Amino acid sequence: MKGALLYEGKAKKVYSMLGEEYQLILEYKDDATAFNGKKHRIFPGKGQLNNKISAHIFEYLHDQGIPSHFIQQLSATEQLVHQTHIIPIEVVVRNVATGSLTKRLGITDGRSFENPLVELYYKKDELNDPLINDDHAKLLTGIQEKELSFLKEQALLVNEQLHALFKKMDITLVDFKLEFGRLHDRTIVLSDEISPDTCRLWEKGTNRKMDKDVFRQDTGDLLEVYEAIWQRLKEDIHV
Ligand code: C5P
Repeated sequence: MKGALLYEGKAKKVYSMLGEEYQLILEYKDDATAFNGKKHRIFPGKGQLNNKISAHIFEYLHDQGIPSHFIQQLSATEQLVHQTHIIPIEVVVRNVATGSLTKRLGITDGRSFENPLVELYYKKDELNDPLINDDHAKLLTGIQEKELSFLKEQALLVNEQLHALFKKMDITLVDFKLEFGRLHDRTIVLSDEISPDTCRLWEKGTNRKMDKDVFRQDTGDLLEVYEAIWQRLKEDIHV
């Protein structure tokens, strides 16, 4: 049973789970935010879409041997997860150059990488989530060298699996962001969400954007593209 509201973020609310000390309920909200919360809009139905997309992806990754905090979907907007303490590092994997990478380094938008790039960002709204290196990550979060290596390895494994999944849907996985957390025994697992809010997804052939960039750049209907992602995902026969 759902307990007290513990935390409210930009896209999700976190509740305790009564009777289960180390489990939480995540409720996906209809809010879309961009540019560190400066742009905000409510899209009725977005929470349900991201809940089912994220649940499906975590189940798929689990089947491929990649563990996460995800336990099960509970309702249209809620999922049950193992409690983790989030490590304040955002791990971004890039297969194609776009977004902040092209702005920061002058790399041509749309350039594909033979070897994916892995980047670390410090999860800190007040600082606008700056790009950091391994030394910064260790200093700021106390994470150990071998744990950082584990994060990067897991991120690359997730990339391989998601790349294959989206390829079957005629979609290029351009880039995405992962978060990791510590279970109560300090084991590190993939956490947070994986959805069109946290991935860039381009339709093969047309390069149509099917992710939160349609909201960031006002180029399309967010609900329509998230629904299209869900329709293609649910055809995936692994379930
Ligand atoms: O903005 P940038 O190009 O660095 O984003 C890289 C990827 O990480 C994109 O898929 C974006 O949606 C995701 N991201 C995110 N949350 C952030 C920053 C980036 O989900 N705070």
